[in-house]
Amino acid sequence: MNPKERIIELRRVLHEHNYRYYVLNAPVISDFEFDSLMRELQDLEAANPDMYDPASPSMRVGSDITKEFKQVFHKYPMLSLGNTYSKAEVAEFYERVKRFLNEDFEICCEMKFDGTSISLTYINGRLTQAVTRGDGEKGDDVTANVKTIRSIPLVLSGDDYPAEFEIRGEVLMPWDVFERLNVERDRNGEQLFANPRNAASGTLKLQDSSVVAKRGLDAFLYFMLGEQLPAAGHFENLKAAERWGFKISSLTRKCSTLDEVFDFIDTMDVERKNLPFATDGIVLKVNSLRQQKNLGYTAKSPRWAIAYKFQAERALTRLNEVTYQVGRTGVVTPVANLDPVQLSGTIVKRASLHNSDIIEKLDLHIGDMVYVEKGGEIIPKITGVDTESRFMLGEKVMFIKKCPECGTPLMRNEGEAAHYCPNDTSCPPQIKSRIEHFVSRDAMNIDSIGPETVELLFNYNMIKDIADIYTLQAEDLMFLPRMGLKSAENVVGAIKASLEVPFERVLFALGIRFVGATVAKRLARAFVNIENIMNASLDELKDVEEIGERIAASVINFFAKEENRVLVARLRDAGVNFTYTEKEGTVKSDKLAGMSIVISGVFTHHSRDEYKNIIEQNGGKNVGSISKLTSFILAGENMGPSKLEKAQKLGIRIMNEDEFLALLQ
Ligand code: IVH
Repeated sequence: MNPKERIIELRRVLHEHNYRYYVLNAPVISDFEFDSLMRELQDLEAANPDMYDPASPSMRVGSDITKEFKQVFHKYPMLSLGNTYSKAEVAEFYERVKRFLNEDFEICCEMKFDGTSISLTYINGRLTQAVTRGDGEKGDDVTANVKTIRSIPLVLSGDDYPAEFEIRGEVLMPWDVFERLNVERDRNGEQLFANPRNAASGTLKLQDSSVVAKRGLDAFLYFMLGEQLPAAGHFENLKAAERWGFKISSLTRKCSTLDEVFDFIDTMDVERKNLPFATDGIVLKVNSLRQQKNLGYTAKSPRWAIAYKFQAERALTRLNEVTYQVGRTGVVTPVANLDPVQLSGTIVKRASLHNSDIIEKLDLHIGDMVYVEKGGEIIPKITGVDTESRFMLGEKVMFIKKCPECGTPLMRNEGEAAHYCPNDTSCPPQIKSRIEHFVSRDAMNIDSIGPETVELLFNYNMIKDIADIYTLQAEDLMFLPRMGLKSAENVVGAIKASLEVPFERVLFALGIRFVGATVAKRLARAFVNIENIMNASLDELKDVEEIGERIAASVINFFAKEENRVLVARLRDAGVNFTYTEKEGTVKSDKLAGMSIVISGVFTHHSRDEYKNIIEQNGGKNVGSISKLTSFILAGENMGPSKLEKAQKLGIRIMNEDEFLALLQ
């Protein structure tokens, strides 16, 4: 088999295994085998660029090229659904349809998935475009991001699909993925997502599809549109879509009577609590496409469909106390301590009160009977007070003025709801969680030091900041509770091994607010060492792709503090790595030696930062503005008109990406 035939074969096989794994949940090969086939395909594709295929399974890993989303008009507007909140309203809908049609009809009942909607276009069995709902008329073209969702087929199976059609559905983030993501964001000092719906839509709008690829999104499809659909009924069309490789929910039932619809609602209101993803109701659709057409649409929604929203579960219980938690970045969160109460299958004892404004709005008093709800969020919240049952008014809840941990007066930034403790250098929970972050797996990976060990080391006064970790000796450690000589030696070994951790992870480990793993990587690549970052101006920081005002300001603030500069110096003395080294295997030559190259426009094969690196690795110099001395311009799409004019005037060569890459081959 020649390489080209092998590429085609591998693509077919990988599409198949992908479908078995992500849609059917029934893999037949191991992850390892899957990964090696994928690697073989990626290598062959890299060696045979003429075999480029936007629907190749290798496209699922995404790329970090930044592009603004293109706005696309929907061929058919994306409407919303009318909502109902009671069975009586569902009955009204049913009767309305019955009166209008005056003939037998069936209702297809489905789950209402609580994610973000997407419209996919397939032409000749290949995914060509994925667009968000936007304002219903036009949305964002998020095709690159959607391609990373493994349960969405890039190429369809079978041969009876229409030449062109659209299929709509919901992109979701399963509960377990959502919870893991929030733990990670919390560790990085990033704002938490309130619910999986926000997490899914936020992820879909990320600029870097290689980050999207790692976020574990999933998708269910529930609505097919086109001129030549396979069947005369909605349910049957979805069955056909299922054969072509789409993920269609099995929790769908065709009902012929209102009682059957009610039965579905009752069953699902219980079943939904066991589902691995969030749902917020049931959607009822008249099944026959002919009848749908007769019923038609109002300006906002179809007359042939309606949503029934589940009641958020609510419980009434007593508020005993409000306590306050201090997070890694110093934000103080009020927590309601309650009489234990059963809610959505778990016992709730605590609920978040978010911030002082919410406490004020609820006019909370200790001893009040409060309503607790679990909406789409994992942390229950207090939504109201049962003032009727107040027979004696308890003490009014007043937000604290001082940090409960270190006594420092709390602060609040203009326009922000949260109070925070500004004592970031010696407030114990802030220090402890910074240390936990520093040793965590994606940071310095000193995983033999868990949160309990951090607690012990801190309480025994053995470490007061992250640099103290490098002073720890096995002889000292072995006297800690539950630690013998062997584990002490392991800890010291892991600390020593952390000196090999690459700079970008060290930078992430420092715990600078808003500097997550991806941002750290970009900064490390762009500035090469810590001195350059410490001395960079706001504008220089903002010049790096994806780094905006907020992140740049946070980096500046961090290094403006003398104690952080001292910390870096102490870490460096301990041998921690503060210089970026390119991974092995990158092209290196002197083909661009002595050349000054200007980069302009938007690229498809590599990001700007990557091109900057490629130029440097091949001996060239990347310069900002065009002059007589410019050797050539590496131009992507949408090169600025003034640059173009200047280049033409000076007779400087404009090279596109492909020519540039060919030059380096
Ligand atoms: S059908 C014209 N089916 O609910 C009908 N929508 O409020 C198009 N949704 O924007 C929608 N699950 O994001 C339909 N099984 C389901 C659904 C569903 C969730 C969402 C969808 C839509 C919103 C309508």
